[in-house]
Amino acid sequence: MIYQHLPVMVEEVIHYLRPKVGSKIIDCTLGAGGHTEALIKRICPGGKILGIDLDLRAFEATTKINQKNKNCLTLVNDNFKNLEKIANDHKFNQADGILLDLGLSSGQLQDQARGFSFLASGPLDMRFGRQTDLTASQILNTRSLEKLIEIFKNFGEEKLAVPIARKIITSRKISPITEPVQLVKIVSAIYRKFYKAKSKINPATKIFQALRIAVNQELENLENVLPQTIKLLARGGRLAVISYHSLEDKIVKDFFRRESRDCICPPELPICQCGHLKKLKIITKKPVLPKPQEIIENPRARSAKLRVMEKI
Ligand SMILES: C[S@@+](CC[C@H](N)C(=O)[O-])C[C@H]1O[C@@H](n2cnc3c(N)ncnc32)[C@H](O)[C@@H]1O
Repeated sequence: MIYQHLPVMVEEVIHYLRPKVGSKIIDCTLGAGGHTEALIKRICPGGKILGIDLDLRAFEATTKINQKNKNCLTLVNDNFKNLEKIANDHKFNQADGILLDLGLSSGQLQDQARGFSFLASGPLDMRFGRQTDLTASQILNTRSLEKLIEIFKNFGEEKLAVPIARKIITSRKISPITEPVQLVKIVSAIYRKFYKAKSKINPATKIFQALRIAVNQELENLENVLPQTIKLLARGGRLAVISYHSLEDKIVKDFFRRESRDCICPPELPICQCGHLKKLKIITKKPVLPKPQEIIENPRARSAKLRVMEKI
């Protein structure tokens, strides 16, 4: 199966990152290379793009781009939480643009062996890359009741976190939870108990999201990478972040707000004591949303929010 993914808000990303011939751009989430391909067309020859992804399979999709623009593209299989080191190793500091298109690609979702989808027949794995050992199945079968509740509440905002976690603990005593279908059955049974009406979306949606975030430490990675992007951008360079749920968007929004202000002391302090200086200008006062036509053509885009900042 070829790795495929329809890139989200490509036009908007190009508009805000303003790539020009000769620009130096970092795509922290290469995926199937859709954004990278659009960027390469505008910066090469002469420009350079660094494509990073945790998933080795992401690089399969870029062989086509690679051949056409061999000298333009550098590929690195790593976690973007190590961005500063990766960029320094490959001489990508003073970048003109950085892109973070968070979450997972359609190729990953459709891959049965990865366990991201409710329908997948393979193991409940959910790792973006093989650099870590912890899988979703290990979390479900080894974590305490309290820890499961915390994961489901914090990363899934799941209202039924407590009964679902309890049911997981009793179920795993009978047989370990190793496949998506087992988890879907458990969560659906709890939903049926609490809600009479059938929901339009799969009741296990939030639990799957929570597990994926926990397995890949998605929120920590995002918190770690954002300050590094400021260090790596040239003055006037821009960062574009596409997020797909409120937890990610809040991290980006709060970071942009904090770093666009000179003083971040609590309001009750009469004089500034923090000495904090603003490092960026917010370009998108409100998040940019996909056009209705894009959502029709690519329903995955419906939850996307794009925020952009510029280094000052
Ligand atoms: C939404 S997809 C990107 C799609 C891409 N923009 C395209 O046009 O095809 C997100 C990608 O980011 C990767 N990813 C997620 N977290 C990562 C991390 N911490 N470090 C590196 N790659 C990561 C995933 O493996 C996935 O391939």
